[in-house]
Amino acid sequence: AAGNNLDKKKIMVTAGPTYERIDPVRFIGNFSSGKMGFALAEECASRGAEVILITGPTALSASHPNILRVNVESAVEMYDAALKIFPQMDAAILSAAVADYRPEQMSEEKIKRSGNEHLSLSLVPNPDIAASLGKIKKPGQLTVGFALETNNEESNAIKKIKEKNFDYIVLNSLNDQGAGFGHDTNQVTILSRNDEKRSFALKSKSDVAKDIIDTALRQLTVDS
Ligand code: C5P
Repeated sequence: AAGNNLDKKKIMVTAGPTYERIDPVRFIGNFSSGKMGFALAEECASRGAEVILITGPTALSASHPNILRVNVESAVEMYDAALKIFPQMDAAILSAAVADYRPEQMSEEKIKRSGNEHLSLSLVPNPDIAASLGKIKKPGQLTVGFALETNNEESNAIKKIKEKNFDYIVLNSLNDQGAGFGHDTNQVTILSRNDEKRSFALKSKSDVAKDIIDTALRQLTVDS
């Protein structure tokens, strides 16, 4: 049987939210805590991998000495870091909640309230990190993505595997109590590009990380 050892494997993990600046004191963000990504980084490191954790702003700390943490703020910064690091990696786990849009321009000055006038922000799309990695992925490299959907979860996740060239996608359920953003627990279903499907019970994010790695990084593991 295959071991669960990731000795010396190089694994990149993206985690947390991104902040898209509006002006010097405001941003567009989201409620991602980074907990799932940090749990994945810790579990990979404890199995012997050399982990690069590219994270947006979070209150978390990474404790394992084999985790190299790269702090970024915006989607563009995360994209630049990820594209540079990925060619040296055996796998990438894309668990960050990357903002789909950013303000077209950041105001150098704090935007002032002007009476009762409406205010519009013009937004432009951010680069898709996962899809870009999917395009430069070499044979032997794995990419694992996440999907958080409120409806048609499974068919959307299958579509996303193809669009982003993922090997596996982890489907978070928003319909279950205790799963998803901010919680310490998560309930996931993992789908593969070859139509395999495994559903797991509600568990702590560190136990979910074990299931994800056992399933999605299996072909990287070395017998110990
Ligand atoms: O398209 P959607 O945002 O639902 O896809 C989610 C997956 O794609 C996650 O793995 C997420 O980390 C990744 N993603 C990304 N860059 C983006 C948007 C999503 O890497 N700009």
